[in-house]
Amino acid sequence: MQTNKGRVTKDGIRIYEAGDFAGMNVAGRLAAQILDDIAAHVFVGQTTAEVDRLITQMVVDADATSATIGYKGYQHASCISINHVVCHGIPGEKQLKDGDIVNIDVTVIVDGWFGDTSRMYVAGKLSRKAERLIQVTHDALMMGIEAAKPGNTFGDIGHAIQVYAESQRMSVVRDFCGHGLGRVFHSPPNVLHYGRAGTGSVLEEGMFFTIEPMINLGRPETKVLADDWTAVTRDKSLSAQFEHSIGITANGAEIFTLSPAGKFHPTYSV
Ligand code: MF3
Ligand code: CO
Ligand code: CO
Repeated sequence: MQTNKGRVTKDGIRIYEAGDFAGMNVAGRLAAQILDDIAAHVFVGQTTAEVDRLITQMVVDADATSATIGYKGYQHASCISINHVVCHGIPGEKQLKDGDIVNIDVTVIVDGWFGDTSRMYVAGKLSRKAERLIQVTHDALMMGIEAAKPGNTFGDIGHAIQVYAESQRMSVVRDFCGHGLGRVFHSPPNVLHYGRAGTGSVLEEGMFFTIEPMINLGRPETKVLADDWTAVTRDKSLSAQFEHSIGITANGAEIFTLSPAGKFHPTYSV
């Protein structure tokens, strides 16, 4: 049964208790373990449907639950977003091609706690421009996490990400954001990946949320395809994303979705 201990801020953000970090760690670690284990299955000729089938099996084998199967009608255990797909790519029978860059996003529920994480993979040979995009997106996420500490604001997180991405002549997607999570999948606040320093809600110890910047090589605008899920860049430019679930501690942030094998960054595979 869900206990509803802990308070909610005036902005609707739940403050979790010290003991709740353990549950988030277990859920986050499983999601990250699945992303570690799926790496060997991302290769030229592989279908994203098969990748998703393997992820579904890994969730079952761990006695966990997929948060995405049945979520608003979504039917898969992962979102798999290739090249100019920004997010929410639907697994299917299309085969990966040489040089494709792929985001795989997995959310699991363990004992009622949600672990949500995504990272980038490469099929075949990584191009220089895709490598740069992936590196910048990864670094932008980590800079956002650096800014995640008590007393800073959500605007400080978005600002850190935006300033860095734009300094590298890339753009930040505005149409999708990170989110609070915990015993629910999506809750306040919206965690924007752009913004002005010092604006927005003040971070407090016990807040749990994701940071999940989507960075484009071209313009930031997106559109959603007729399937009502797949979001793509309007200008067809490449897009990358990394996502961690984190909890605010007394003096910083704890990352719940760290890779057990240190595989979070994709260059291990190239
Ligand atoms: N995991 C995604 C996120 O980061 C949400 C996917 S919802 C789905 O918030 F239904 F598309 F799977
Ligand atoms: Co998320
Ligand atoms: Co996600």
